[in-house]
Amino acid sequence: MNRKLRMGMVGGGKDAFIGAVHRIAANMDGLIELAAGALSINPEIAKESGKMLFLPEDRTYLTYEEMIKKESELPADKRIDFVTIVTPNFAHFAPAMMALDHGFHVVIEKPITFTLEEAKQLKQKVEETGLILALTHTYSGYPMVKQARAMVQGGELGKIRKVWVEYPQGWLSKLSEREGNAQAAWRTDPKKSGKSGCMGDIGTHAAHLAEYITGNKITHLCADLNVMVAGRALDDDGNVLLKFDNGASGVLMASQVAAGEENALKIRVYGEKGGLEWQQHEPNTLLVKWLEAPTQILRAGAGYTDRLSSYATHNCRTPGGHPEGYLEAFGNIYRNFALTLGARIDGTQPTKEMLDFPTVEDGIRGMAFIDNVVASSTSDVKWTAYQA
Ligand SMILES: NC(=O)c1ccc[n+]([C@@H]2O[C@H](COP(=O)([O-])OP(=O)(O)OC[C@H]3O[C@@H](n4cnc5c(N)ncnc54)[C@H](O)[C@@H]3O)[C@@H](O)[C@H]2O)c1
Repeated sequence: MNRKLRMGMVGGGKDAFIGAVHRIAANMDGLIELAAGALSINPEIAKESGKMLFLPEDRTYLTYEEMIKKESELPADKRIDFVTIVTPNFAHFAPAMMALDHGFHVVIEKPITFTLEEAKQLKQKVEETGLILALTHTYSGYPMVKQARAMVQGGELGKIRKVWVEYPQGWLSKLSEREGNAQAAWRTDPKKSGKSGCMGDIGTHAAHLAEYITGNKITHLCADLNVMVAGRALDDDGNVLLKFDNGASGVLMASQVAAGEENALKIRVYGEKGGLEWQQHEPNTLLVKWLEAPTQILRAGAGYTDRLSSYATHNCRTPGGHPEGYLEAFGNIYRNFALTLGARIDGTQPTKEMLDFPTVEDGIRGMAFIDNVVASSTSDVKWTAYQA
C-alpha cells in the first residue's frame, strides 16, 4: 500500500460510545484515516462531531445515504474505501447493504443486524459483490485468545470436552434507561436492540469466543433468559447449556445485573489432556492447566516467541508487562482488515494471520444464537418442577 485506507463512519458522533473506540483502533497502525462521516442521527450533533474531528465540511454528511451516494461519485483517489457502521443494532443492515451496493467494503458492529434474515441477506450481498466485511467481535482480537485458539486447534489439549464461558456485567442493575443513559435506552428497547437484550449485546460475544477458540460449532442449546429489573422489556440476565458439534458440553452465562461487576468476560476450555483459562480483566495471561504436569502461565509479549503461535505474536504490539488491552484488541481487528484490504488493492496474497478477523459468517452465527436462545427460553419443556 502506498497510501492510507479511507474510512467513512456511520454513527459514532459525540453522542456515542463505541465510535470513538473504532477511531482509536483504526488509527493505531497508521493504515487508516477518517475521511468522511455521517456521525449522528441528530444533524446538529453530526455537524459538531465532524468539526471536532477536523473533517472537511463537504465530507461531514447528515445522513448515511448522502455519505454513501456522494462518496461513490468522488474520483477513485479521493473517495472512501470502506464504511464503518457503529449505530445501534436496528440501524446496521440498511447502511451495510447500501455501502456494499456502492462498492464499499464494510466494518460493522455486532450483533451484525436486527434479524437473522437480514444477516443472511447481507451474506448474500457480500458474496455477490466480493467485498470484504469485518465484524468487530473485539475479544477475538486479543493475542492470548489467539494463542488459546491455536493451542486447541493444534490438538495440544486433545479432544475438547467442556467449555465454560461467563460474561457478567453490572451496569444495568438499575433502570438506567429511564435516567437518561442513552446506551441503556436503546439496548433495552426491543424496537432498537432486537429480540434479546443481554444475550444479544454480550451473550453473542461469549458464544463467538467459545466457537472461535474451540473451532467447534454450537448445535443444541437450552436457555433460561430473565428480566431481573422490573419494568424492563428485554432480558438482562441468562444462562445457557450448550452442546457442540464434536460432542463437547458447555455452559454460557451472561448478565448485565451482576451488581458490581465491570466487564468480567472469562472462558475456560477443557480437553482430554488439560485446560485453558483466559479472562479479559487480565488479558496478557493464558493459564494452561495440564492433567499430568504443573499449570503453565503463558504471557503476551514474552521473550519465548517460539513457544507462542504466529497468530499470537502477529497480534502483539508491546514487550512483556504492557497490557494488550481492549483498544489494542480492537486495533488488531482493524489492522488485519486493513492489511487484507491493502493486499487486495496491491494484488498480493494476505497471510493467514491477516485473514484472521470475524466476518459475515460469524455475524450469522451470532444472530442464530439470539434466535435460538430466545426460542428455547420461551419454551417451558425443559423445566422439571422440584419435588421434595
Ligand atoms: N464490539 C464491542 O465491544 C461493542 C461495544 C459497545 C457497543 N457495541 C455495538 O456498537 C453499536 C453502537 O453502540 P454504542 O453503545 O456506541 O451506541 P450509542 O448509542 O452510544 O451510539 C450510537 C450512535 O449511532 C448514531 N446513529 C443512530 N442511528 C443513526 C443513523 N441512522 N445514522 C447515523 N448515525 C446514527 C447515534 O446518533 C449515535 O452517534 C451497537 O451495535 C453495539 O452493540 C459493540
